[in-house]
Amino acid sequence: MGFFDFLTEEIAIDLGTANTLIIHKDNIVVDSPSIVAVDRRTNKVIAIGHEASMMQGKTHENIKTIRPLKDGVIADFNASEQMISMLIKSVPMLKKRLISPSLRMVICIPSGITEVEMRAVKESAERVNGKEVYLIHEPMAAAIGIGIDIKQPKGNMIVDIGGGTTEIAVIALSGIVCDKSVKIAGDVFTNDIVYYMRRQHNLYVGERTAEKIKINIGAAIEDIDNPPEEMSVQGRDLLTGKPKQAMVSHREVARALDKSILRIEDAIMEALSQTPPELAADIYNTGIYLAGGGSMLRGLDKRISLKTDLPVYIAEDPLQAVVRGTGIALKNIERFKTILLK
Ligand SMILES: Nc1ncnc2c1ncn2[C@@H]1O[C@H](COP(=O)(O)OP(=O)(O)O)[C@@H](O)[C@H]1O
Ligand SMILES: [Mg+2]
Repeated sequence: MGFFDFLTEEIAIDLGTANTLIIHKDNIVVDSPSIVAVDRRTNKVIAIGHEASMMQGKTHENIKTIRPLKDGVIADFNASEQMISMLIKSVPMLKKRLISPSLRMVICIPSGITEVEMRAVKESAERVNGKEVYLIHEPMAAAIGIGIDIKQPKGNMIVDIGGGTTEIAVIALSGIVCDKSVKIAGDVFTNDIVYYMRRQHNLYVGERTAEKIKINIGAAIEDIDNPPEEMSVQGRDLLTGKPKQAMVSHREVARALDKSILRIEDAIMEALSQTPPELAADIYNTGIYLAGGGSMLRGLDKRISLKTDLPVYIAEDPLQAVVRGTGIALKNIERFKTILLK
């Protein structure tokens, strides 16, 4: 501990494709959609997070909303930098301080991110007073957050289904033994529902409405325990152009999502088939752990379990597992040094 350590604050960040979360002193102090709204004329950011998310699909020609990390790669460096910096500055404890403290941080990044993009994230963090910035890969953070002892000579499989990507990894001895990242996750599910509504109901719905359908009545299989009631959905009639309403059931959503879920299953099967036999033997006993918002889709655990013949467990709080794990890595930087990227 250095003399000036009282001037240092520690934060853990899960920079997700859909949501960014920040932990400070063991509490989640930021939980915000990874979205910025930009004024096209001045190129200035006019809103981030929830505020920007409310503008989605409702913008006029002078405003655009951007999800800088949408597909697990940085689509817009400028927007991403501004989002990172504004979200860090929005941490309540840091806003109150007279002199902005220097920060020690661990940032969790999507696995598909390139070296150049990693450096960009790190530099963005350094520009908001980040004196000591470490990065951690998403499946590692998820595993720690779920409570897996990653240092053991024992294989564990993690599947993190986020917004833009599904990250599949087998972890043992503090390392990622094999991993796969596919661009099929929550966003694709949402788009599947948009297409389905168009095709089956002649109803044009926006992304926000489709996401609501997914969360309220979404399912990965038709036969589920405690099925939700049908949902009334409003949008625009494709034929007449008039606003209209239709009723939708969870069975329809299961049909709409079937092909995309099949692709996630295939990726899991492929990762399993590349797993060395000793670790496969471990996974036979430990099963598969699911994290990320997409894992909350009704019946998805059951469907993956049927496909793989393995037990499947969903993390206690799938949306927070990664930031919790990142927070634990931050508190134990020495212990986790080998998995942190400087
Ligand atoms: N109950 C739910 N059922 C299905 N999908 C959900 C549910 N809650 C959130 N999601 C989806 O989870 C995704 C966000 O998950 P998250 O883990 O935060 O992603 P990321 O880590 O990529 O930011 C979004 O696509 C969202 O629609
Ligand atoms: Mg995530």
